[in-house]
Amino acid sequence: MDFAWQHLGSRDRFIRWAARTAIEHQPLTTWSTRALSEKNPAIQVEALLGLARAGGISPPHRKPSDSPLDHQLGVEILKAWANLDPKTLDNERRLTWARTVQIVLHRFEITSSAAPSNLVAKLDPLFPSESAELNALLCETLVYLQSPTVASKALALMRSAPTQEEQIEYARSLRALEAGWTPATRNEYFTWFLKAANFRGGASFSKFIEFIRNDALDRLPASERKTFEELLEKKVEVRSAIENFGDVFAGRTPRDWTLDELAPAAERGMNGRNFNQGRKMFGAGACYACHRFGNEGGMTGPDLTGSGGRYSPRDLLDQILNPSKEINEQFVPSVLTKNDGSTVVGSVVNLNGDNVMINSDLSDPNQRITVDRKEVKSIEPSKISPMPPMLLSSMTEAEILDLVAYILSGGNRDHEMFRSSKAP
Ligand code: HEC
Repeated sequence: MDFAWQHLGSRDRFIRWAARTAIEHQPLTTWSTRALSEKNPAIQVEALLGLARAGGISPPHRKPSDSPLDHQLGVEILKAWANLDPKTLDNERRLTWARTVQIVLHRFEITSSAAPSNLVAKLDPLFPSESAELNALLCETLVYLQSPTVASKALALMRSAPTQEEQIEYARSLRALEAGWTPATRNEYFTWFLKAANFRGGASFSKFIEFIRNDALDRLPASERKTFEELLEKKVEVRSAIENFGDVFAGRTPRDWTLDELAPAAERGMNGRNFNQGRKMFGAGACYACHRFGNEGGMTGPDLTGSGGRYSPRDLLDQILNPSKEINEQFVPSVLTKNDGSTVVGSVVNLNGDNVMINSDLSDPNQRITVDRKEVKSIEPSKISPMPPMLLSSMTEAEILDLVAYILSGGNRDHEMFRSSKAP
């Protein structure tokens, strides 16, 4: 036990996991007091997670033969948990800390009305934080606890989140919220679904958005349903991913930036850049629609997480401003010419059977154009990149340089390019 216990505080997440798993398999009475009274916060946070897992039972897995739940243990874990100061924990352990409270509430079947009132007081001031991962956990928990302030805070995050993943995460949690709505927040929430209907993803993607909306509608009191009738019946205006993300630029006059205009500033030095604005531009420029970056974004274009850093600032700008100058060979589109002379351009996604299936819009991975094989005259590689030019045209020079810094950094907020920059 002593050997495993010290490793609960390991810097290596996998070792922490192994130590915790070993401990969870020991009789609870031999270590529960130790977990509850552990003095080292980095060890205690992992020990409490273990105690929540070993001492409680996930409701769907409960068998009639299981001994009754020791609710007192759940309450004691929450007490020890609330005494931990998240500020003393590093980012990873802060996530463990935030996740542990969810697991306690779930496995000890503590309903929001039975939860100690200090939970909301403890979590609320931390939300929103700098980290999207932590925000996701905090939002989910605060919704479960029916915090009166979570709706407006989560909506503010949805407004500024650059990716559809992040926005969907908050929207998914908010669907279960009953407390603290105002006509304005309700209106903003249901209006968001009109925008989300134009988000693109895998095969069941739009169904999932619909499920979230249906769940939210189920919790909307009948009287309010009447108030929002018009909004709820509004038809979705179909827009491309590029239009959908470009909302931030409404009212700006686009300009045709050239490499020679932008490159000197980029080459003079990428110091004091703004990370958050760079990330925001990656969303607003629709880059996420086709490119994976970190854990977010589409997959129809190359993953830019590491590959973006291969370029000098000038070459990176060149790739973005002039996509067709040098096309990544794995992504060269095909030009299909039909017998009647008309053409379809895109990625061939299926050549089996009697049809050729082409995706001609990479920002919509599910879109398909089907051509009867008998109508196909030729299929040749295209000289034009599927990546649209002019994506930077509505951005200011500062915004473009922040975007370049964001890509070059591989998404690392601590990169020296962002030092001395003030968060907006
Ligand atoms: C409609 C889909 C789409 C959008 C939107 C898009 N790209 Fe691309 N991008 C691609 C594809 C496909 C390629 C590979 C073909 C090529 O090299 O031109 C590519 C290539 C690149 C490359 C070269 C990387 C390599 O490995 O070849 C960079 C850098 C890049 N994109 C940056 C961006 C940035 C920054 C944005 C947003 C401002 C953006 N892209 C928006 C589809 C897209």
